Amino acid sequence: SLVDRLFGMRQLEKQLASYFGIDKCLIADGDSDQQRKVISSFGRLLNEALDAKLPEKSNIIAVMGGTTMAMAAEELRSLETDRRHNLFVPARGGIGESVNVQANSVSAVMAMKSHGDYRSLFVPEQLSSTTYDSLLQEPSIKEVLNLIGQANCVIHGIGRALHMAARRKMPETDILMLKQKHAVAESFGYFFNEQGEIIYKIPRIGLQLKDIQHIPYVFAVAGGRGKAKAIRAYMQNAPKQTWLITDEAAANEILKGV
Ligand code: G3H
Repeated sequence: SLVDRLFGMRQLEKQLASYFGIDKCLIADGDSDQQRKVISSFGRLLNEALDAKLPEKSNIIAVMGGTTMAMAAEELRSLETDRRHNLFVPARGGIGESVNVQANSVSAVMAMKSHGDYRSLFVPEQLSSTTYDSLLQEPSIKEVLNLIGQANCVIHGIGRALHMAARRKMPETDILMLKQKHAVAESFGYFFNEQGEIIYKIPRIGLQLKDIQHIPYVFAVAGGRGKAKAIRAYMQNAPKQTWLITDEAAANEILKGV
């Protein structure tokens, strides 16, 4: 029956949260590798989670990019109240994604869907370090970086390492290095091995992994059986306040043999 199914899912959520030692998991039906509409369910779960967790004050929400984040963003609904106001910012500068799945775009869509505000961070991809340094002195960029530094909420995806490296057209030498170091997961420009250790970081301005430790509301959104290994790798060392939004297929694969 439906009640049994829902009960089963709640059990799976508890099991997965305790496996990672994190606050909470929210699990959608199905396998997002097979059915893209499962990603829309992530968006609805994310909306509920944000509505439940975000305090009644001015919040700054730093978001990352990716196809999951971009699709989930479309499902947000008003998160504004009399006293709650949300400002969305990209968590980090460009890390080589196509425009529609860049953090800037995801942040704008989330803001528009949830009736909040957003600010963009315009940092071109290929820059010499001198241009980069002078860009950081630009008042408009400094201002957004300052907002990112005050974020009290972060929303991000989790990717498969080599898949992300190829999609972002990283140089062959870097890809070789990632293979040699057994990279399995990627999140906000950091690469992790199966033990969840950082093995490489794309140098970019904005939020760094160590900053996330101190941010009260963190949501990781990733699913699909094919991502199970990447999700496990990243999540085992993820900040403990992280809420994981995933699907049944990834959850079952992660817990297989536990
Ligand atoms: O950092 C992780 C990636 O942004 C995940 O990308 O949702 O397209 O798999 P994806």
